[in-house]
Amino acid sequence: MTGLPHLRLGVNIDHVATVRNARGGDTPDPLRAAKLAEEAGADGITAHLREDRRHISDADIEGLMEVLSVPLNFEMAATAEMQAIALRHRPHAVCIVPEKREERTTEGGLEVAREENRLAHFIAPLREAGCRVSIFIAADRRQIEAAHRIGAEVIELHSGAYCDAHHDGDFARRDRELEALREMSAFAHGLGLEVHVGHGLTYDTVQPVAAFPEVRELNIGHFLIGEAIFRGLKPAIHEMRRLMDGARA
Ligand code: PXP
Repeated sequence: MTGLPHLRLGVNIDHVATVRNARGGDTPDPLRAAKLAEEAGADGITAHLREDRRHISDADIEGLMEVLSVPLNFEMAATAEMQAIALRHRPHAVCIVPEKREERTTEGGLEVAREENRLAHFIAPLREAGCRVSIFIAADRRQIEAAHRIGAEVIELHSGAYCDAHHDGDFARRDRELEALREMSAFAHGLGLEVHVGHGLTYDTVQPVAAFPEVRELNIGHFLIGEAIFRGLKPAIHEMRRLMDGARA
């Protein structure tokens, strides 16, 4: 057994909804995927209700709140509309992410330092409603300090740059990005923040991050949903879990 705390796996089901929406019908059903992920050992389900509703819908969030036994991590932009939805559902966790309409995915972390005042006021009612608020940011000391000052309990570090460098075969850049994630996980943990990591993680990139002792949760979506085409969702999640546990041991 390992002396490190359990590393939670949050399974992001957005892209089940992406495939469903490609045809505009009811299948594949993200709720069914979420229940299967739960059965496969996911510690939480993550879903991003985007402003343009390109994948997850309002009805999906409602359904997830009804059917899930594990916590829902509700990802959203810092807008009044999303705040009202979160306050209506009161999910276990809310993760504030930057959102640009034209982007294909969440490209970077939130600029907390530049918007400190607004974000402090934005998250206060969510915290009062009992949601654990997390802020999705780059591995950058300034952003971490700002997230801490505004009263976030959790930060999620964006692992996209690390994963992109790995998949580009630029291993010097990958190692620099990994080192930044490692250092900033320790720094944030030292401030008393809970540290999560997510974006772009695959079987090839998960283990070095899973080994950081300060990291408590990984949120993984696109790769797992893609891999599910070949292995099935449960085996895809089991393999991720096995790799995470191996890195932690
Ligand atoms: N964490 C956050 C905050 C995200 O916005 C996303 C999706 O963009 C993920 C994790 C999961 O990323 P991926 O789908 O690349 O695994």
